Amino acid sequence: MRYRRLGSSDLEVSEISLGSWLTYGVGVERDRAAACVDKAFELGINFIDTANVYGRGAAEEFLGGALEGRPRDSYVLATKLFFPMSDEDRGLSRAQVEKQLDASLRRLRTDHVDLYQCHRYDDETPLEETMEALTRAVRSGKARAIGFSEWPADRIKAALDMAGVEKFVSSQPQYSLLWRQPEKEVIPLCAANGISQIVWSPLGQGVLTGKYSPDAPPPAGSRATSDEMGGWMDRLLARPVLEAVQRLKPIAAEAGLSLAQFALAWVLREPNVASAIVGASRPEQLEENAAASGATVDPALFAQAERIVAEARRTA
Ligand SMILES: NC(=O)c1ccc[n+]([C@@H]2O[C@H](COP(=O)([O-])OP(=O)(O)OC[C@H]3O[C@@H](n4cnc5c(N)ncnc54)[C@H](OP(=O)(O)O)[C@@H]3O)[C@@H](O)[C@H]2O)c1
Repeated sequence: MRYRRLGSSDLEVSEISLGSWLTYGVGVERDRAAACVDKAFELGINFIDTANVYGRGAAEEFLGGALEGRPRDSYVLATKLFFPMSDEDRGLSRAQVEKQLDASLRRLRTDHVDLYQCHRYDDETPLEETMEALTRAVRSGKARAIGFSEWPADRIKAALDMAGVEKFVSSQPQYSLLWRQPEKEVIPLCAANGISQIVWSPLGQGVLTGKYSPDAPPPAGSRATSDEMGGWMDRLLARPVLEAVQRLKPIAAEAGLSLAQFALAWVLREPNVASAIVGASRPEQLEENAAASGATVDPALFAQAERIVAEARRTA
């Protein structure tokens, strides 16, 4: 496993990291989830991403147990706040930053997180209030560094321009061969300002493994068949997308990689990406995915894959 520096922080994160949306504490049963965490450590994955809202605290609870007993400096732990935790609890106000961070620390059974992220931008709280609260979180030692997820470029700029507050070191956007939106504004802005990307759904929720055929029902046991986990895949399971993905398989094979590895290597070709956050329902998936770290791929093969996906988008 290779590691990259997270923005201007002193955190070194594995190129492949482990996420916990939909899976841990929710759709993947406990023993299998624990086996995935064990496998991640075995493979050198040191970066774990969660959020208070995943399973309304259940993912953090699970991780608190799974990480307990491991040396605290052997992993980099990231969580987030913003989405509703109750009818009253939501957003990025000073009171919420304090309350939600303390609640996350309790569930995660630790006295600090390495990265505290704003899960979205909060239009109802002044940015100054949020930045001051995040700054207090860092200066109190409860968070080592701060980040955001899916913030508009102008809000990122406004935070960077603010004096006397901690600077963001990470941005968590959706990014994959099937979703390249951050390339326009967010990546250049972040690259110029000491902020790395840690990207979500780099495998398009599993679609970029090639296991979903346009001509067959989703395979048994896959996310698309799960009542708990399959509700966010409609766009990804559209026929033109699945057809394009099948055409990527021989290109990955030419690179000597599985399609999952090829898709992860594509994300990691971007120097501003510090880590690809994968989900895993089985330890074997992590073994396959971790091998993408350090893979070298002819850029001409990446360009071919990009053309196929762009063509599919035009005809969709
Ligand atoms: N900031 C945000 O707003 C946001 C939003 C979404 C996610 N995230 C973060 O990003 C993480 C990753 O998101 P994601 O789970 O959508 O990522 P993903 O890596 O694109 O998809 C993960 C799913 O694909 C399947 N899979 C993974 N590797 C495979 C392999 N080698 N072979 C076959 N199937 C494989 C597994 O599902 P099955 O086995 O069940 O098919 C797995 O749970 C989340 O856990 C979360 O931490 C953040």
